[in-house]
Amino acid sequence: MTAEYRVDSGVAIVTLRNPPVNGLNHATRQGVVEAITRANQDSAVRAIVLNGEGKLFSGGADIREFNTPRMSQAPHLGTVIQTVEASAKPVVAALHGTAMGGGLELAMGCHYRVAAADTQVALPEVKLGLLPGAGGTQRLPRLVGLERGLNMIVSGEPVPAKALADTKLFDEVVEGDVLAAALALAQRVAGESRHPRARDLRIDYPNPDGYLGWARMTVAATAPQYPAPLRCVDAVAAAVKDKFDDALKKELGYFLELSMTPESRALRHAFFAERAASDVPGVTRDTPLRPIQRAAVIGAGTMGGGIAMNFANAGIPVQLLELQQEALDRGLATIRKNYENSAKKGKLTAEQVEQRMGLIQPTLSYDDIAQADIVIEAVFERFDIKEQVFRQLDAVMKPGAILATNTSTLDVNRIAAITQRPQDVVGTHFFSPANVMKLLEVVRGDKTADDVLGTVMKLGKTLRKTAVVSGVCDGFIGNRMIEQYSRQAVFMLEEGATPAQVDGAIERFGFAMGPFRMGDLAGNDIGYDIRQRRAKEKPGLHYGKLADQLIEQFDRKGQKVGKGWYDYKPGDRKAIPSREVEGMIAAYRDASGITPRKIPDSEIVERLVFALVNEACHILEEGIALRASDIDLVYLTGYGFPVYRGGPMQYANEVGLYNVMHAMQTFARNRQADPEFWKPAPLLRRLVLEGRDFE
Ligand SMILES: NC(=O)c1ccc[n+]([C@@H]2O[C@H](COP(=O)([O-])OP(=O)(O)OC[C@H]3O[C@@H](n4cnc5c(N)ncnc54)[C@H](O)[C@@H]3O)[C@@H](O)[C@H]2O)c1
Repeated sequence: MTAEYRVDSGVAIVTLRNPPVNGLNHATRQGVVEAITRANQDSAVRAIVLNGEGKLFSGGADIREFNTPRMSQAPHLGTVIQTVEASAKPVVAALHGTAMGGGLELAMGCHYRVAAADTQVALPEVKLGLLPGAGGTQRLPRLVGLERGLNMIVSGEPVPAKALADTKLFDEVVEGDVLAAALALAQRVAGESRHPRARDLRIDYPNPDGYLGWARMTVAATAPQYPAPLRCVDAVAAAVKDKFDDALKKELGYFLELSMTPESRALRHAFFAERAASDVPGVTRDTPLRPIQRAAVIGAGTMGGGIAMNFANAGIPVQLLELQQEALDRGLATIRKNYENSAKKGKLTAEQVEQRMGLIQPTLSYDDIAQADIVIEAVFERFDIKEQVFRQLDAVMKPGAILATNTSTLDVNRIAAITQRPQDVVGTHFFSPANVMKLLEVVRGDKTADDVLGTVMKLGKTLRKTAVVSGVCDGFIGNRMIEQYSRQAVFMLEEGATPAQVDGAIERFGFAMGPFRMGDLAGNDIGYDIRQRRAKEKPGLHYGKLADQLIEQFDRKGQKVGKGWYDYKPGDRKAIPSREVEGMIAAYRDASGITPRKIPDSEIVERLVFALVNEACHILEEGIALRASDIDLVYLTGYGFPVYRGGPMQYANEVGLYNVMHAMQTFARNRQADPEFWKPAPLLRRLVLEGRDFE
């Protein structure tokens, strides 16, 4: 049974039992209806207590049931709640741990609620682009008031029961045994003939129209791309104005409408992608993981410093190694400055700054780090230097230590082969700034041991990263794809666009930053160096010449020198269109005999995004990425792809893969196009032929 039933001193105790979160799957919903019915028929029972087994009351819908027919099979949660609410014998909810989503909706259908003080309650549906569809938008504002209710519904954020102790949501908030308190309350109310129902309460608010109008404007301004928050306001407005049952119907209508929006599909896709990413072949629950209690980082530069901060933030002592005292001092000073900036913003206390700095131990000696459980190398991106470092690590590190490299472009298998223990070598590709960016590409070398991979994936979670496995290839998943995107961006300048037009189009699509502003931020010289190397390795590969001219003729490296694709005023990051760059582009077109054409924004977006998609297909076919959703996760967490579009693969599914391929074939016919570029990857062709999507 997923809802256990027992009777104690005339009170039926109905316990949700569906580990790990007492999710309200079909069997549990059915179990609750049966238990409430049984209690009402049981003459020995005078009152009912509903609670949850284990660490919490209920986390809401059972995500294992999502996208299955069981999800919508009767009894729906709304029916379960109606059964509870209509019970002739009083129902007391006993909440502890968490009551979220459907779990909180169910509790609000009970006549009384008792909560442990540290219980977290939330209606987080908005985070999946939905709204609570089983009366949550109707009952919560009645119980906690219009403003607090709407805030909780629109933000989806959890609130501790303690903070709501003064509201009608809770009859009692207790520090001790919540079940005992609920049983005592049940005894007290057992004989009463009428039981309070949230649906009968009125929402008292002096000027609800004024408030709701303001709320509508606020959510439209803060989340313009998302339809769900506005619908949350509409549903709460119905709670204020309409009869309960009419408003409930509206709420369900909004829920169904939202569930069919691309934004909700994207958010749900991202939610499941995050879970799927930790499912890695070769790593099972039984894979014994290596303990990580001490870490070391080699190189205290941009990345090394940020990586060390990640460990300190997670409370793991980390040694930071440089060869020169000066470099070490510089690195530590930068870390301290970062922490102090967080303290200034109120995110850390002065004490926490010192505590974290205390966890970072500087050293100049490899002997000092020998006992670390993992060492991450973040020195200059040159193979000869990495070679020296890995030789030393191989010589000094204790057996079983994980040797990781943060390289962006070098071959992890070649690095592993420097050592006598390639099974312990793995890539950990952090993104800049490493203490901020969520993405961690975990690069599995040919010889990387399964337990090393499993340990690093788990470490990713400890460091609060989104860890995604990538195979070994140039650029791994993210940078290999972005190269095709960047190539397209420059081709469009040749054909008639300006940097501001390309950036504007893709930023309106929702990217955090367009390719040219991005280049200026990261440094256009980095891309230049990569292209120089590529030109030697793959001489046939065609790049737009403008990016090279930008460096070779104009030394426009980007923000760090005050000029790149744009001009910058000292101390200001605002990108100002540059006369010099426009002149450079015009001269190039003249010299190449190109008559510029106006490229519509829609074409700019399609060319940039479909360039990503086509390369991603190769990456999938080669087994570099394990699944399409991993690729989406990389783009959502590392490259500023708009979350409400779900990542490049999800977006391609939404557009329709046939349409994606058709657009690519159209681009290939452009006069200036490189037809090789737009050759659809075999995987894309196959899926179109079979009428399938990326899964
Ligand atoms: N900067 C980025 O955006 C980024 C992103 C992902 C990965 N990476 C990779 O991270 C690595 C480091 O890049 P970075 O941007 O931090 O470089 P950086 O130049 O800022 O820092 C490198 C540091 O390594 C130190 N160093 C050099 N040789 C050393 C040695 N033999 N022993 C110990 N320390 C040594 C240098 O003194 C310097 O402090 C590179 O492999 C790079 O490709 C960089």
